[in-house]
Amino acid sequence: MAFYQRYVFPWILDKVMQHPRLMQLRHELLAGVQGEVLEIGFGTGLNTLAYPHQGLRLHALDVNPGVARRARQRLRKFPLRVEHATLDGQSLPFADESFDVVVSTWTLCSIPDVARALAEIHRVLRRDGTFLYVEHGLHGDAAIARWQHRLTPVQKRLGDGCHLDRDIDALLRAAGFDTSDSRRFSADGLPALFGYMYQGRARRQDSPQRG
Ligand SMILES: C[S@@+](CC[C@H](N)C(=O)[O-])C[C@H]1O[C@@H](n2cnc3c(N)ncnc32)[C@H](O)[C@@H]1O
Repeated sequence: MAFYQRYVFPWILDKVMQHPRLMQLRHELLAGVQGEVLEIGFGTGLNTLAYPHQGLRLHALDVNPGVARRARQRLRKFPLRVEHATLDGQSLPFADESFDVVVSTWTLCSIPDVARALAEIHRVLRRDGTFLYVEHGLHGDAAIARWQHRLTPVQKRLGDGCHLDRDIDALLRAAGFDTSDSRRFSADGLPALFGYMYQGRARRQDSPQRG
């Protein structure tokens, strides 16, 4: 792994991802999460500041060992035991239907084969489980979206594989998720190129009927 990816990027990531608006979105997403939970792309562990302190068993993974050191520091202050591992979200070492909840916060932008990762998330999620996500992605305004397409090659280099222009809802639907409980919005205080958010609670299309 290159020096930038392993040492420089984790430091930048930790600073950038503590933006107050992003922290607020983490809290909104994760309030009340319970059960067997898997987080993909755990990064520097900033979601430990937003998870409840009881009622969940957390498994956390990230492919970049450079971010793990910072994550471990945060985990020391988190009251629950967490299974934390360096693993690739494109190939999960868990049995089918192992988790009540899978969490992703600003990670689907960066996974190279995102369709494969979503297929894995779908597989390890229980039929009545929930995929909780907040992601930045393709803007609803066509002019901004064109700039996102143009600048994604540069962003991929600076942001360790991050795409500006992924249509997260479309990817989720293609992977067999129901996205009816999701919203898109421009997050105030963030640049338009990064600030168009997809937030939701997706369920498997084959999930049991809701009463
Ligand atoms: C923009 S960061 C977000 C980090 C964290 N989720 C947060 O909210 O602060 C994207 C993260 O996805 C991780 N990532 C990229 N590709 C991955 C993969 N194939 N499997 C697991 N994690 C991956 C990166 O290493 C990075 O930590």
